[in-house]
Amino acid sequence: MKLSGLLTSAMAAQGVVTAVALLVSYAVTGSGFGAAQMVALLASAAVAVLLARLCATRIATSEKRIAAQLAEQAQARTDSAQMTQAVIRTALDAFVQTDDSGIVLEWSPQAEALTGWSRTEAIGADVVELLVAEPQRPGFRQRMMRLLPELSDTPIGIRFEVSLVHRNGDEILAEASSTALRLGGRTVINVFVKDVTQKRAAEEQLIQAQKMEAVGQLTGGIAHEFNNMLTVITGTIEILADAVKDNPPLATITKLISEAADRGAALTSSLLSFARKQALQPAEIDVNDLLEELVKLLLATFDKKIEIVRKFDGNVWLAFADRGQLSSALLNLAINARDAMPDGGRLTLRTRNVVFGVREAVAVGAGYAGDYVEIEVADTGTGIPQAHVERIFDPFFSTKEVGKGTGLGLSMVFGFVKQSGGGIKVRSEEGHGTVFTIYLPKAETSALRPASYDTRKIVGGTETILCVEDDPDVRQYVTVQLKSLGYKVIPAASATEALAIAADGTPFDLLFTDIVMAGGLNGRELADQMVAARPSLRVLFTSGYAHDSQHTPGGATMGAPLLTKPYRKAELARMLRRSLDTAVDAAGDAIPTPYSVQADLEGFLRRQAAEDSGATRSRK
Ligand SMILES: Nc1ncnc2c1ncn2[C@@H]1O[C@H](COP(=O)(O)OP(=O)(O)OP(=O)(O)O)[C@@H](O)[C@H]1O
Ligand SMILES: [Mg+2]
Repeated sequence: MKLSGLLTSAMAAQGVVTAVALLVSYAVTGSGFGAAQMVALLASAAVAVLLARLCATRIATSEKRIAAQLAEQAQARTDSAQMTQAVIRTALDAFVQTDDSGIVLEWSPQAEALTGWSRTEAIGADVVELLVAEPQRPGFRQRMMRLLPELSDTPIGIRFEVSLVHRNGDEILAEASSTALRLGGRTVINVFVKDVTQKRAAEEQLIQAQKMEAVGQLTGGIAHEFNNMLTVITGTIEILADAVKDNPPLATITKLISEAADRGAALTSSLLSFARKQALQPAEIDVNDLLEELVKLLLATFDKKIEIVRKFDGNVWLAFADRGQLSSALLNLAINARDAMPDGGRLTLRTRNVVFGVREAVAVGAGYAGDYVEIEVADTGTGIPQAHVERIFDPFFSTKEVGKGTGLGLSMVFGFVKQSGGGIKVRSEEGHGTVFTIYLPKAETSALRPASYDTRKIVGGTETILCVEDDPDVRQYVTVQLKSLGYKVIPAASATEALAIAADGTPFDLLFTDIVMAGGLNGRELADQMVAARPSLRVLFTSGYAHDSQHTPGGATMGAPLLTKPYRKAELARMLRRSLDTAVDAAGDAIPTPYSVQADLEGFLRRQAAEDSGATRSRK
């Protein structure tokens, strides 16, 4: 029974007892106040005292119960507050609580980490001023006001994406989930904020990579076919040129065909690089040395208005990549930088070591978390408009006038870097300049360095060559070429045929094999088997198309030299001599010889000049 009810009943009972006692006393003694009435009143007082004690006991019990209930509720409130704090502290997302005007009431440790503002600095401050860039503040406030009534009506809250700024000025792309609560007559807004900047960058990288992959597949397939045709043209044209050298008009025509085939070869080579199907010969590279050689070349050819600054880290690791391709890639970047600074400026080349976690590796599209050599090519030129940035790596995207650029430079750089297991990043600000940064995997083991060579002299030989090539046209052409160089040739149309020849005990000095062959063993597996039986056997690979991931040490060629298709007689002759003359140690491993990048770079520049003059001619 309630306390008030109990008291009322007790008072009523007391009244009734007094009345009854008095009535009984008057009935016994008649009218007047005497001893009987006295007794009646005393009896009623005794009842009153009893009732009062009863009530007091009940009141005490119920007070205790209420106190216990209150303590329990207080404990529950403390527990709940502690639990909320624990949830907020352990949540992956940052938590921010504000009142309805945006004044911060709560700021979790994750919010401190995300924004750079500490809890003490944030509490009491205006959230919009803390997190929103100045020009966007009025618009943001308006949206907040519009959202507020909607928030109050939506108990499950509202999710939205928002662009915020870190205390240091960095942009943060965030996903927020917000609810409004009525607490003690005022509205509080709870917001969980998740940083999605990296995630978004990774998604964009993925989309870009998928696009590049699709375009690459297409380009690679076509370029591969062209390469085989060009191998036949560039090879046989020399025989034709020899035959008509005394007939000037025909000699001129053959020269034209030869030049056109060269241009075709340069084009398919860029396309294959982009498609990451270029046959690469990765080796250990001292990038500082390579850049030094590049700088010499640039100083000799670039306008003096362009200042070249070197910032090389003396302790930079060796990189593992194809030397010739890396020189062309860096030259491409340098030429792009030059073209972006028609009135002069500064070209800065920088090297350093970086160690990537998964996040950083994903951000630059590199193959894996680990050690990389970073090469940065920065200019103070025109910069790249935002709308162009995502297209610059596309094949044939160029803003240069017809004849000045094919738009394949960066596609080639991109393909090469990716195929090498590295990554690439570009930062550009219109009017201020551009920074391209490439990351190459650090070299782990030593591999063969190709020897320097003289491109002009053709030297043949008399050794016997086992020539394995599945394309009959190419096989026939190579056989003719090899014979014309003085070699004895044993042609084979497949790995199986070659193994049968070797099993017969037929002697030969060098295995010259295509890497990619239809059906059965490929050239690499064939060489594996043959070298296992004869460690000192010399091997020369040829390919227009690389299937294996090339950045693993030894790559597709186990350190043996590779002749990339299409090739000329001079290249074939040179590579054969290099393979036959390479000193090998007892285990059959090639002993590295010094290498200079100069020849590759000069060759590249010559090709560029030839293309430029070709394009100029064709525009006339
Ligand atoms: N350092 C840079 N500064 C400004 N814009 C650049 C820079 N590098 C590249 N670009 C832009 O990217 C485009 C594509 O570059 P890419 O090297 O692929 O082709 P290209 O230089 O036009 O032609 P190619 O390299 O085949 O001669 C360029 O046309 C240019 O608009
Ligand atoms: Mg270019």
